[in-house]
Amino acid sequence: MKKAKFMAIAAVAVLGLGLGGAAWSQAPSPEEMQRAKEFMQKSKAMMKPELREKADALPPEIQQFLFKVAVKHTRRSDTLTMRQVMQELLADYQAVAGAIATDNGELAADAARRLAHHRLPRGGMLPYLPLEKITGKDLGVLPAMEEAVEGGAMKLAAAAEKGDMAAAARHFGDVTAGCVACHAHFRGQPGVSARLK
Ligand code: HEC
Repeated sequence: MKKAKFMAIAAVAVLGLGLGGAAWSQAPSPEEMQRAKEFMQKSKAMMKPELREKADALPPEIQQFLFKVAVKHTRRSDTLTMRQVMQELLADYQAVAGAIATDNGELAADAARRLAHHRLPRGGMLPYLPLEKITGKDLGVLPAMEEAVEGGAMKLAAAAEKGDMAAAARHFGDVTAGCVACHAHFRGQPGVSARLK
């Protein structure tokens, strides 16, 4: 029963990828699907019960979205935290900014594609979000943020490659808006001290 449900979710997710994903050049192979499935299972097995319960209770459309993310991001780390992955994202983001400003379309395109296919942290994304935000409602904002950041980065890459740096700069604005929105929703100000009153 559980397996059947998972396969149904996986099938819908792949259908969704085929129809939607701006960031996709071709459909994932069965091997890639299998590796993504293993990553999801391994991630869940690592979770402590309080998180595991919340993750299991997420509605099917969120589970599908998380599976889609796992399929797309083929670089998956066994050790890195989300903060470390974010440092890598920031490095690519800054490379894109510099390249757009200096009319280097090829560098902008490469760095933007790398950004769109960033690594996944140990255990996936859920362990690093506030526990009270592991709900269908809060995670329901993720597809829009993914579209802004990763969809925006892929459009940016295409524009930069054609030498249209003005369009690339506009897409860079969408990418930035995605970083800002996600941080506002899930994160807040980094490094606030508990030793200040
Ligand atoms: C899916 C939501 C999401 C998106 C989209 C996102 N971030 Fe983050 N980011 C987070 C969360 C959550 C943290 C905090 C993780 C933690 O502390 O464990 C974070 C942390 C960071 C940090 C770490 C800061 C520190 O104090 O160490 C950097 C840098 C960062 N993000 C850069 C970016 C950039 C650049 C983008 C856009 C290209 C981006 N992020 C997009 C959710 C997101």
